[in-house]
Amino acid sequence: MSQFKEVKKVTTHVLQEMKLKGEKIAVLTAYDFSMAGILDDAGIDMILVGDSASNVMAGFRTTLPITLNDMIYHASSVMRAVNRAIVVVDLPFGTYQGNSKEALNSAIKIMKESGANAVKMEGGREIIESIDRILSAGIPVLGHLGLTPQSIHKFGTYVVRATEKNEADKLMEDAHLLEEAGCFGIVLEKIPSKLGARVTKELKIPTIGIGAGSDVDGQVLVLHDMLGITHKFSPRFLRRYHNLREEIIGSVHTYINDVKTVNFPNEREQY
Ligand code: KIV
Repeated sequence: MSQFKEVKKVTTHVLQEMKLKGEKIAVLTAYDFSMAGILDDAGIDMILVGDSASNVMAGFRTTLPITLNDMIYHASSVMRAVNRAIVVVDLPFGTYQGNSKEALNSAIKIMKESGANAVKMEGGREIIESIDRILSAGIPVLGHLGLTPQSIHKFGTYVVRATEKNEADKLMEDAHLLEEAGCFGIVLEKIPSKLGARVTKELKIPTIGIGAGSDVDGQVLVLHDMLGITHKFSPRFLRRYHNLREEIIGSVHTYINDVKTVNFPNEREQY
């Protein structure tokens, strides 16, 4: 008997089939072995090793500071836990913009050293040359349009994107360009739900929304936000499924009290 669990791995083809069948795709972020294992056992379809690790793991205000080596560390930790879900890793800021050769080198390094299944990149026309080059090396690419946090200093705010016609037209054009280039899907972040629905209808590849309404092919949330570990970030699109922060604080209070009153360890908890 094989020592490995037999599971049907989610691939980019499976995601495509899900779109055709109208089956929604459930995506969450993870950055470490323990959490990734729990998500995979729970049946999540895709794990995104997002550069949101820069915020929720490292405590930076933006996603810009995280490095390629940091992302490799997070993605390889996730890969050691996952059997079924497809694992996509963000190419971090500064590793692919403006130079397609550097983009290819970054994508090859992250795939080789982390073992991830695909990369995600933010942007449309401006990065199409980099995307072409990465795809031609056989690396699957997930696009990301709408609110693109790596460009926060260009836009200055995290407000809803593409509410004006010219920005919506550019997003539509970029979505078609990404599909024609060969991306296997596109993340749509914080855009009007009507636009999310339009992109989803016009494209053959799956769309994964975060604040893009319900008429997209799948949804993604940052794990620490949906579990209520973070508490200062409350956009309208975020549904909190738990208040883990409060539960952890409660457990830690009890532990502190047990230690101080010598209630821990008890007789059964010592040698
Ligand atoms: O980095 C990330 O977690 C992301 C999601 C918010 C889509 O890009």
